[in-house]
Amino acid sequence: MAFTGTGKIWMNGALVDWADANIHIGSHVIHYGSGVFEGARCYQTPNGSACFRLDTHMRRLMDSAKIYRMVPAYSQKQLELAVLDTIRANAMKACYIRPVVYRGYAQLGVNPFPCPIDVAIMLWEWGTYLGAEALEKGVDVKVSSWRRMAPDTFPALAKTSANYANAQLIKMEAIVDGYAEAVALDSQGFVSEGSGQNIFVVRDGVIYTPPRSASILPGITRDSVLTIARELDFDVREEVIPREMLYIADELFFAGTAVEITPIKSIDRIPIGTGSMGPVTKAIQQAYFGIINGERPDTHGWLTFVY
Ligand SMILES: Cc1ncc(COP(=O)(O)O)c(C=O)c1O
Repeated sequence: MAFTGTGKIWMNGALVDWADANIHIGSHVIHYGSGVFEGARCYQTPNGSACFRLDTHMRRLMDSAKIYRMVPAYSQKQLELAVLDTIRANAMKACYIRPVVYRGYAQLGVNPFPCPIDVAIMLWEWGTYLGAEALEKGVDVKVSSWRRMAPDTFPALAKTSANYANAQLIKMEAIVDGYAEAVALDSQGFVSEGSGQNIFVVRDGVIYTPPRSASILPGITRDSVLTIARELDFDVREEVIPREMLYIADELFFAGTAVEITPIKSIDRIPIGTGSMGPVTKAIQQAYFGIINGERPDTHGWLTFVY
């Protein structure tokens, strides 16, 4: 869906009109992928608009920046407050939140050090990422022919623009081949993650997800799922997952800020479960949305109210 524009974008401390939020074509980030970013959500809850795990997202942004030797001129706390200010300035009730720290305009060459570290925060309305039915009925997924990067190539723990060159290849292949999404394997051939989400496997009541060492972005939704699942007394294991375990799973689901908790109904055209959302996925999805909908207490302090 094309952007309609939300009004103001926060750029290096100033609120700029959407149409004027431009950077120079000579900016380092455009040529060399030298940006790190976040994707968070603000939900409309019964108690008002609230950002989900804003502090954790902004901590990951600072971590990503640190890995790439970027020192933003703003602290984590200042950026959290800037997100809240930007939501208020745009009078938004619910939105997707995209902070980005990037190497700006000074000179070009692979060496990024001469370029300034710029920061921007943009917001827009973003509903269900994989379509309205996906959260209920699930999606068809393939195993990608593209692998995730090997551990000593690109740092998977950093949410950097550069990593999404790999993610785009995974996503495009899925679309061209008639699937909603794809799961990539790591450099060893074990299950890693989707183009923009983590994966969970359920078998015999046990919930499995690949470990950090499988070239995943350690998702904040993944962490929320692990926390919720343990609270619901599920046996949860972060474990290396062979590809064929996907085929014999009782249930599979994706977890991520964009997809939230989305069931997977087939993988490589092999049906998973009974064709509708499985009971474990349902329990996790209900608990996750329960916190956002105010049906479950926010015992972990995951919600930051905006107004
Ligand atoms: C590659 C990748 N993996 C996993 C995730 C899920 O992370 P989170 O739950 O923090 O949104 C994302 C989303 O940002 C992603 O892009």
